[in-house]
Amino acid sequence: MRVFLNGRFVDESEAAISFDDRGFLFGDAVYEVIHLYDGVPYRLDPHLKRLERSLAGAMMEPVDMSLITRVIQDLAGREGREDPDAIIYIEITRGAAPRNHMFPGPDVRPTILLWCRPAPPPDEARVEKGISVITVADDRWAKCWIKTVNLLPNVMAKERARRAGADDALFVRDGMVLESTASNLFIVVKGVLKTAPVTNYILPGITRATVLELAPGVGVPVREEPFSVDELMAADEVFLSGTTSEVLPVTMVDQKTLREGRGPVAKKLKAALQEDVRREVAAGRGD
Ligand code: PDD
Repeated sequence: MRVFLNGRFVDESEAAISFDDRGFLFGDAVYEVIHLYDGVPYRLDPHLKRLERSLAGAMMEPVDMSLITRVIQDLAGREGREDPDAIIYIEITRGAAPRNHMFPGPDVRPTILLWCRPAPPPDEARVEKGISVITVADDRWAKCWIKTVNLLPNVMAKERARRAGADDALFVRDGMVLESTASNLFIVVKGVLKTAPVTNYILPGITRATVLELAPGVGVPVREEPFSVDELMAADEVFLSGTTSEVLPVTMVDQKTLREGRGPVAKKLKAALQEDVRREVAAGRGD
């Protein structure tokens, strides 16, 4: 596999990162995950804008986004063509320097890594039947809007879910349910779609924004407002949204079955998302 590392494409066997890299030592790095459909990066601009915001939020120097765009187009045009459903991963660390909490000087360049891999094959049974989740106390930091690789609380919550026989975990802060370990969260109450408002405590998901944009067009009113665990348990439908999860129904929370199979609103929004992907792919390929 080809990867882009620090200014050039190399074979993965040659792609080595220093043990002094601050991404490795401190989790001092930000990242993005972009879905490629038929070789077209979906919603590229908002992903790049969020990457710029994450860099600024992490007090990292801006990175030339035209370089990142060129690399994405290169990966999309080669590796992305081989698989109709692929993922581009971008990571930018503060660079490699002898371990010191203090930021290194301006001579230390950021480490920039991009690769493209086939997306994990969609589990159609799960999309139809829905997944099970547990609720966990949100013990993450207060800057969840920065897409940082500091994901220890997320991976531990995911593991707790696995050990409880569930698929994912929902973070709960001050009684309000926010998002899952790698997706945003929606509920449907009496036909109205609700999701936690954008605050420091969630990642402002690109798929979340897309769902909010598409919902009114398919007759689903939306409201960005906080909701509690009780509201979640009483909701008519629950689903996750994300670059890899797309629209994924949740049918069991803390071992309580909410419903059997995915609901009509999740179905409509999944179809609307697929239609939007088709539009963007057609535009991107110049069809
Ligand atoms: N995760 N919330 C969290 C905590 C996330 O990590 C993600 C994305 C989302 C959804 O954001 P988007 O729709 O922009 O993908 C919400 C990526 C996919 C990951 O970590 O792999």
